[in-house]
Amino acid sequence: MEIVKSDFLISAASRAQYPAGDRPEVAFIGRSNVGKSSIINSLTNRKALARVSNTPGRTRLVNFFLINDSIHLVDLPGYGYAKVSKTERANLERIITEYFEHRRSLDKVILLVDSRHKPTPDDVGMYSYIRRMGIPCLVIGTKLDKLKRNEIRKNEKVIRETLGMHPEDRIIMYSSLSKENREAVLEETFQGLTEKAEAGEEASDQ
Ligand code: GTP
Ligand code: MG
Repeated sequence: MEIVKSDFLISAASRAQYPAGDRPEVAFIGRSNVGKSSIINSLTNRKALARVSNTPGRTRLVNFFLINDSIHLVDLPGYGYAKVSKTERANLERIITEYFEHRRSLDKVILLVDSRHKPTPDDVGMYSYIRRMGIPCLVIGTKLDKLKRNEIRKNEKVIRETLGMHPEDRIIMYSSLSKENREAVLEETFQGLTEKAEAGEEASDQ
Protein backbone atom coordinates (compact mmCIF):
# COMPACT_ATOMS: atom_id res chain seq x y z
CA MET A 1 0.00 0.00 0.00
CA GLU A 2 1.30 3.46 -0.81
CA ILE A 3 0.55 6.33 1.55
CA VAL A 4 -0.99 9.25 -0.31
CA LYS A 5 -2.36 11.20 2.62
CA SER A 6 -1.30 11.50 6.24
CA ASP A 7 -2.69 13.70 8.98
CA PHE A 8 -1.88 14.25 12.63
CA LEU A 9 -4.97 13.58 14.75
CA ILE A 10 -4.19 14.03 18.44
CA SER A 11 -1.64 13.65 21.23
CA ALA A 12 -3.61 11.81 23.87
CA ALA A 13 -2.70 11.96 27.56
CA SER A 14 -5.32 9.38 28.48
CA ARG A 15 -7.74 7.03 26.78
CA ALA A 16 -10.60 9.51 27.01
CA GLN A 17 -8.81 11.41 24.23
CA TYR A 18 -8.24 8.47 21.86
CA PRO A 19 -10.00 8.89 18.51
CA ALA A 20 -13.38 7.17 18.51
CA GLY A 21 -14.55 4.66 15.91
CA ASP A 22 -13.09 1.37 14.82
CA ARG A 23 -10.63 2.19 12.08
CA PRO A 24 -7.81 -0.35 11.72
CA GLU A 25 -4.84 0.63 13.85
CA VAL A 26 -1.11 -0.14 13.99
CA ALA A 27 1.04 0.95 16.93
CA PHE A 28 4.81 1.52 17.02
CA ILE A 29 6.56 0.69 20.28
CA GLY A 30 10.19 0.40 21.34
CA ARG A 31 12.93 1.87 23.47
CA SER A 32 13.36 5.57 23.69
CA ASN A 33 15.46 6.86 20.75
CA VAL A 34 15.10 3.62 18.72
CA GLY A 35 13.44 5.50 15.84
CA LYS A 36 9.65 5.21 16.27
CA SER A 37 8.85 8.75 15.21
CA SER A 38 11.40 8.60 12.36
CA ILE A 39 9.88 5.47 10.82
CA ILE A 40 6.44 7.11 10.76
CA ASN A 41 7.92 10.10 8.95
CA SER A 42 9.84 7.96 6.47
CA LEU A 43 6.86 5.73 5.64
CA THR A 44 4.58 8.72 5.12
CA ASN A 45 7.28 10.68 3.25
CA ARG A 46 6.85 13.55 5.68
CA LYS A 47 9.71 15.38 7.33
CA ALA A 48 8.03 16.23 10.60
CA LEU A 49 4.66 14.53 10.90
CA ALA A 50 5.92 12.87 14.08
CA ARG A 51 8.38 14.77 16.23
CA VAL A 52 11.96 13.49 16.13
CA SER A 53 14.69 14.64 18.47
CA ASN A 54 18.16 13.81 19.68
CA THR A 55 16.84 14.01 23.22
CA PRO A 56 15.55 10.57 24.19
CA GLY A 57 12.12 10.54 25.75
CA ARG A 58 10.70 13.08 23.32
CA THR A 59 7.37 11.36 22.75
CA ARG A 60 5.47 11.40 26.03
CA LEU A 61 1.90 11.08 24.83
CA VAL A 62 0.07 8.68 22.55
CA ASN A 63 0.19 10.30 19.12
CA PHE A 64 -2.40 9.27 16.55
CA PHE A 65 -2.03 9.74 12.79
CA LEU A 66 -4.60 9.08 10.08
CA ILE A 67 -3.32 7.41 6.91
CA ASN A 68 -5.21 7.63 3.60
CA ASP A 69 -8.30 8.75 5.55
CA SER A 70 -8.76 5.18 6.74
CA ILE A 71 -6.05 3.67 8.98
CA HIS A 72 -4.50 4.88 12.25
CA LEU A 73 -0.79 4.79 12.97
CA VAL A 74 0.14 5.31 16.61
CA ASP A 75 3.45 6.65 17.93
CA LEU A 76 3.83 5.47 21.53
CA PRO A 77 6.24 6.87 24.12
CA GLY A 78 9.56 5.03 24.37
CA TYR A 79 10.52 2.88 27.35
CA GLY A 80 13.84 2.13 28.98
CA TYR A 81 15.41 5.58 29.04
CA ALA A 82 17.72 5.60 32.05
CA LYS A 83 17.76 9.33 32.68
CA VAL A 84 14.12 9.90 33.49
CA SER A 85 12.97 10.13 37.11
CA LYS A 86 11.15 7.26 38.77
CA THR A 87 7.90 9.19 38.73
CA GLU A 88 8.24 10.00 35.04
CA ARG A 89 9.09 6.39 34.23
CA ALA A 90 6.02 5.15 36.09
CA ASN A 91 3.96 7.72 34.22
CA LEU A 92 5.27 6.55 30.81
CA GLU A 93 4.60 2.94 31.76
CA ARG A 94 1.06 3.83 32.74
CA ILE A 95 0.49 5.58 29.39
CA ILE A 96 1.79 2.55 27.45
CA THR A 97 -0.17 -0.10 29.40
CA GLU A 98 -3.33 1.99 29.36
CA TYR A 99 -3.08 2.05 25.59
CA PHE A 100 -2.52 -1.69 25.17
CA GLU A 101 -5.13 -2.71 27.70
CA HIS A 102 -7.92 -0.51 26.45
CA ARG A 103 -7.44 -0.03 22.74
CA ARG A 104 -9.81 -2.55 21.25
CA SER A 105 -9.30 -1.46 17.64
CA LEU A 106 -5.56 -2.27 17.78
CA ASP A 107 -4.75 -4.73 14.98
CA LYS A 108 -0.98 -4.94 14.96
CA VAL A 109 2.06 -3.90 16.96
CA ILE A 110 5.38 -3.02 15.40
CA LEU A 111 8.16 -3.54 17.90
CA LEU A 112 11.28 -1.58 17.00
CA VAL A 113 14.68 -2.70 18.22
CA ASP A 114 18.07 -1.22 17.38
CA SER A 115 19.58 -3.41 14.64
CA ARG A 116 23.09 -2.82 16.00
CA HIS A 117 22.54 -4.22 19.47
CA LYS A 118 21.29 -7.26 21.29
CA PRO A 119 17.73 -6.48 22.47
CA THR A 120 17.57 -5.32 26.11
CA PRO A 121 15.60 -7.07 28.87
CA ASP A 122 12.95 -4.33 28.39
CA ASP A 123 12.67 -5.31 24.70
CA VAL A 124 12.35 -8.98 25.61
CA GLY A 125 9.64 -8.12 28.13
CA MET A 126 7.76 -6.02 25.59
CA TYR A 127 7.83 -8.74 22.94
CA SER A 128 6.44 -11.33 25.36
CA TYR A 129 3.82 -8.84 26.59
CA ILE A 130 2.62 -8.32 23.00
CA ARG A 131 2.54 -12.08 22.43
CA ARG A 132 0.58 -12.62 25.65
CA MET A 133 -2.00 -10.08 24.51
CA GLY A 134 -2.33 -12.10 21.31
CA ILE A 135 -1.82 -9.13 19.00
CA PRO A 136 0.03 -9.78 15.70
CA CYS A 137 3.58 -8.48 15.99
CA LEU A 138 6.12 -7.35 13.43
CA VAL A 139 9.69 -6.71 14.60
CA ILE A 140 11.75 -4.08 12.85
CA GLY A 141 15.50 -3.67 13.34
CA THR A 142 16.09 0.09 13.00
CA LYS A 143 19.08 2.14 11.78
CA LEU A 144 20.09 -0.47 9.20
CA ASP A 145 22.28 2.19 7.52
CA LYS A 146 24.64 1.87 10.50
CA LEU A 147 25.35 -1.82 9.87
CA LYS A 148 28.02 -3.30 7.64
CA ARG A 149 26.56 -5.61 5.01
CA ASN A 150 28.11 -8.68 6.63
CA GLU A 151 26.51 -7.87 10.01
CA ILE A 152 22.89 -7.86 8.84
CA ARG A 153 22.17 -11.60 8.90
CA LYS A 154 24.10 -12.12 12.11
CA ASN A 155 22.33 -9.30 13.97
CA GLU A 156 18.96 -10.43 12.70
CA LYS A 157 19.64 -13.86 14.19
CA VAL A 158 20.71 -12.36 17.55
CA ILE A 159 17.50 -10.31 17.67
CA ARG A 160 15.34 -13.34 16.84
CA GLU A 161 17.03 -15.50 19.44
CA THR A 162 17.18 -12.91 22.21
CA LEU A 163 13.52 -11.94 21.87
CA GLY A 164 12.60 -15.62 21.61
CA MET A 165 10.62 -14.81 18.48
CA HIS A 166 8.00 -17.20 17.27
CA PRO A 167 8.81 -18.56 13.79
CA GLU A 168 5.63 -17.04 12.31
CA ASP A 169 6.59 -13.51 13.40
CA ARG A 170 8.57 -11.56 10.82
CA ILE A 171 11.57 -9.34 11.28
CA ILE A 172 12.60 -6.68 8.78
CA MET A 173 15.78 -4.62 8.97
CA TYR A 174 15.03 -1.01 8.01
CA SER A 175 16.60 2.41 7.71
CA SER A 176 14.50 5.56 7.99
CA LEU A 177 17.49 7.40 6.56
CA SER A 178 18.14 5.42 3.36
CA LYS A 179 14.64 3.90 3.32
CA GLU A 180 16.12 0.53 2.41
CA ASN A 181 13.36 -2.14 2.63
CA ARG A 182 10.60 0.48 2.76
CA GLU A 183 8.39 -1.56 0.39
CA ALA A 184 8.60 -4.63 2.63
CA VAL A 185 7.80 -2.58 5.73
CA LEU A 186 4.79 -0.93 4.07
CA GLU A 187 3.54 -4.29 2.87
CA GLU A 188 3.80 -5.96 6.29
CA THR A 189 2.46 -2.94 8.17
CA PHE A 190 -0.74 -2.62 6.18
CA GLN A 191 -1.30 -6.27 5.27
CA GLY A 192 -4.96 -7.16 5.82
CA LEU A 193 -5.83 -3.66 7.03
CA THR A 194 -6.89 -1.98 3.79
CA GLU A 195 -9.53 -4.68 3.36
CA LYS A 196 -10.68 -4.17 6.93
CA ALA A 197 -10.86 -0.40 6.41
CA GLU A 198 -12.99 -0.82 3.26
CA ALA A 199 -15.33 -3.27 5.01
CA GLY A 200 -15.77 -0.76 7.83
CA GLU A 201 -16.61 2.03 5.42
CA GLU A 202 -19.21 -0.07 3.64
CA ALA A 203 -20.81 -0.98 6.96
CA SER A 204 -21.03 2.66 8.00
CA ASP A 205 -22.53 3.63 4.60
CA GLN A 206 -25.54 1.40 5.17
P1 GTP B 1 11.42 8.74 21.62
O1 GTP B 1 10.29 9.54 21.07
O2 GTP B 1 12.36 9.49 22.48
O3 GTP B 1 10.96 7.48 22.28
O4 GTP B 1 12.38 8.31 20.39
P2 GTP B 1 11.95 7.64 18.98
O5 GTP B 1 11.95 6.16 19.12
O6 GTP B 1 10.71 8.27 18.45
O7 GTP B 1 13.21 8.01 18.08
P3 GTP B 1 13.31 9.15 16.97
O8 GTP B 1 12.56 8.80 15.76
O9 GTP B 1 13.04 10.46 17.61
O10 GTP B 1 14.87 9.03 16.59
C1 GTP B 1 15.90 9.14 17.56
C2 GTP B 1 17.21 9.48 16.90
O11 GTP B 1 17.62 8.41 16.04
C3 GTP B 1 17.15 10.73 16.01
O12 GTP B 1 18.36 11.43 16.14
C4 GTP B 1 17.00 10.16 14.61
O13 GTP B 1 17.49 11.02 13.61
C5 GTP B 1 17.83 8.88 14.70
N1 GTP B 1 17.34 7.85 13.75
C6 GTP B 1 16.09 7.35 13.66
N2 GTP B 1 16.00 6.42 12.67
C7 GTP B 1 17.23 6.34 12.11
C8 GTP B 1 17.80 5.55 11.03
O14 GTP B 1 17.14 4.73 10.36
N3 GTP B 1 19.13 5.74 10.77
C9 GTP B 1 19.88 6.61 11.49
N4 GTP B 1 21.18 6.70 11.17
N5 GTP B 1 19.40 7.39 12.49
C10 GTP B 1 18.10 7.24 12.80
MG1 MG C 1 9.37 9.58 19.30
